Amino acid sequence: MKTTPLTETFGVEVHDVELAELDTQSFAAVRDAFETHSALLFRNQTIDDAAHMRLARMFGPIEDRDTETLEVGEDFKVPRVSNVREDGSVTAEMDLHTLNLKANMLWHADSTFLPIPALVNILIGRVVTQTGGATELASTRAGWTDMPDSLKDRIRDRAAWHRLSHSRARISPELAALPMFHKWPDQLWNAVWRNPVNGAEALYIASHAFAIEGMEADEGTKLIDDLIAWVTQDQYLYSHQWQVGDVLIWDQRAVLHRGTAWNYKEPRVLSSICVSATATDGVDAMRPIV
Ligand code: OGA
Ligand code: MN
Repeated sequence: MKTTPLTETFGVEVHDVELAELDTQSFAAVRDAFETHSALLFRNQTIDDAAHMRLARMFGPIEDRDTETLEVGEDFKVPRVSNVREDGSVTAEMDLHTLNLKANMLWHADSTFLPIPALVNILIGRVVTQTGGATELASTRAGWTDMPDSLKDRIRDRAAWHRLSHSRARISPELAALPMFHKWPDQLWNAVWRNPVNGAEALYIASHAFAIEGMEADEGTKLIDDLIAWVTQDQYLYSHQWQVGDVLIWDQRAVLHRGTAWNYKEPRVLSSICVSATATDGVDAMRPIV
């Protein structure tokens, strides 16, 4: 598989692969690169929703937040991250829908607030903006490796509480009050995820994290902010300006991501499938013994 680096610390662009035509054998090379590099970019892909789902299933069970089952049924629709309504108009900047997209602009990993968090998000560019609207990735593996012991020692062997309405509350109290953000009980995850394949450790904290278990509230939120600030320094970042047909795949165990602002009068549509983390991906070891 021919690859070129996306940054000096993580991520590769993969060349000469048609994702819609991957077989089990060629997927093994993709999965290998995923474990090693944490982020993969494929350009110029012809990939419809059915092929998107087929690719996702090679990584593991598709996440369905509506049914919360691990095998999605016939009626599963590939989620769109989109500001376009059914009638083709775009949502206004202060609509609750747009505010929810703005909550994606806080550094996060997907689904840390679910009973089973995500292993991977497979995002595809469908309608893109010329300026703004980039998706940024930060390597929490590279950031953790470089982190000074003074900061590491404060979080090592600890766990963080995650709640979806917490990240929404940082954007708008009205948004955070919607019932759709209160469907799941708070989740507690260890703050370091060790990759079972190669042993690499990465910080596992997100915008949804609101407390550190066993730590006083103010100290916990300050620590969460300090940790995210450390791992999102320039040298750990990749910024992706979308083109139609781009497929961006990242390892939620080792990468934080965020959207960035654009002119909200312009349409922007990405397709997104998250795959849930399984025991093989190390999720069981992330549940603290309390
Ligand atoms: C997501 C997400 C950011 C973006 O799809 O999970 O956070 O750039 N997207 O739209
Ligand atoms: Mn996300």
